Amino acid sequence: MTQEAISITKATTKKEKPASDQLVFGRTFTDHMFILDYEEEKGWFDPRIVPYQPISLDPATMVLHYGQTVFEGMKAYLTDQGDVNLFRPEKNMERLNRSNERMCIPSIDEEFALEAIKQLVKVDKDWIPSAPGTSLYIRPFIISTQPYLGVAPSKRYKFMVILSPVGAYYKEGINPIKIAVENEFVRAVKGGTGEAKTAGNYASSLKAQKTVAEKGYAQVLWLDGLEKKYVEEVGSMNVFFKIDGEIVTPELNGSILEGVTRNSVLQLLKYWNIPVSQRKISIEEVYQAYKAGKLEEAFGSGTAAVISPIGQLAWKDETVTINNGKTGEIAKRLYDTLTGIQYGVKEDPFNWISKLD
Ligand code: COI
Repeated sequence: MTQEAISITKATTKKEKPASDQLVFGRTFTDHMFILDYEEEKGWFDPRIVPYQPISLDPATMVLHYGQTVFEGMKAYLTDQGDVNLFRPEKNMERLNRSNERMCIPSIDEEFALEAIKQLVKVDKDWIPSAPGTSLYIRPFIISTQPYLGVAPSKRYKFMVILSPVGAYYKEGINPIKIAVENEFVRAVKGGTGEAKTAGNYASSLKAQKTVAEKGYAQVLWLDGLEKKYVEEVGSMNVFFKIDGEIVTPELNGSILEGVTRNSVLQLLKYWNIPVSQRKISIEEVYQAYKAGKLEEAFGSGTAAVISPIGQLAWKDETVTINNGKTGEIAKRLYDTLTGIQYGVKEDPFNWISKLD
């Protein structure tokens, strides 16, 4: 594992920054990026921060053919005091290595990768937007780079980090979104790659996503891949329901992504003494709760989406409106608390914040 010093080559020209109120998720990138190479004989080597630039790949590069790649999503937040906060970044590094393990990618030194991310954010600090609800999205990712058409783990990789100033993930902002329950396609099955943050999971979601987007839905809610019975996740978010006073979220089962925000929501709910359970929950149960007047809230959680209330669910031919299409009390409290901690305006009882020094 590399312990080399990170070299820094500064960009000679700086890009124009978008206005804080014009930010669209994932469209604009900062002036610099981080790169670290891997070769089987050498391990990880040559860590460097360089001007943001295209990378050149041989057309036979394995990632282009077989998708051996993983990524993470994190954010840097600017506080009123001018500090830069990262939210539980070590959890993302741990998950990156879990994804690596599943995808046969060599593990990275988590502390070193986090140090590289911090240095990169420092170099591009003036890109962190300051308007409420905005942040600097951090996208670490690893691609297999060996030029070879055999189906096997690559012998070469690149770990890269790019940064993007962002506003809300959904065009609805923090207003409730409409979600369609997916009844034909599936995202993942146990034993597959659903638990890993890898490109294929997202590629396979596009068809369903495109179909529902045409009907005005923001996302699909995935059911389990075997019976299409149990709720899994929303692809860009984990999902929670408030049923008769209790918060329920699908238990981790090998095909659901273990969200850092999901974990934080669970900790906060327990801290507040709000009943919460992680268990199997069928879509039928959600609909029955609705019919009995007991489905009080639904919301998603994710780094990009933070907390996103679900105002409407459509399954087969039945559409239900949750909490009159309004943001629920728990979703609001979670959103305010998480963002309050992230922007340094609320107490951080679990020491989730890691400051850039
Ligand atoms: C995130 O929340 O950071 C994600 O990775 C979701 C994404 C696919 C936009």
